[in-house]
Amino acid sequence: MTRVAVLNGPNLDLLGVREPERYGRTTFAELEALVRREAEALGVTLAWHQTNHEGVFLDTLRDLRGAADGCLINAAAWTHTSLALRDAVLALPVPFVEVHLTNLFAREAERQRSLIADRAVGFVCGFGVRGYVHALRALVEHLGGRS
Ligand code: DQA
Repeated sequence: MTRVAVLNGPNLDLLGVREPERYGRTTFAELEALVRREAEALGVTLAWHQTNHEGVFLDTLRDLRGAADGCLINAAAWTHTSLALRDAVLALPVPFVEVHLTNLFAREAERQRSLIADRAVGFVCGFGVRGYVHALRALVEHLGGRS
């Protein structure tokens, strides 16, 4: 079975509570349930991660070696700031799709730069929580639909 990991960075655990006018009212638990349902429908196994600690995020990326066939990454604010994240992604042995809830290009200049996007298979942003479903479908199709 194809193994997909989803990595969520800082403050995404506050989804539904944090700036709901921007990020929506769907909770983080509901987002996980949505993505798990889609993974089941696609016939892939899913490992779901969230952390507010950058080192833990980097360790999770490192540990994907041999444990996942591909991943979705929403590194949240680290997307725009972390060279350590970029270095970890440069060492990532599996393809990934970058996903963001909001359209970064309609936001502040600092958010319009991603330090990892050039390494991604593709990039999904602006579709809110549904973007995770789109990104998962795209990743699985990219992986050849193996399951
Ligand atoms: C985000 C966009 C980031 O700029 C922000 O720091 C987040 C969420 C998104 O999903 O839209 O925390 O990654």
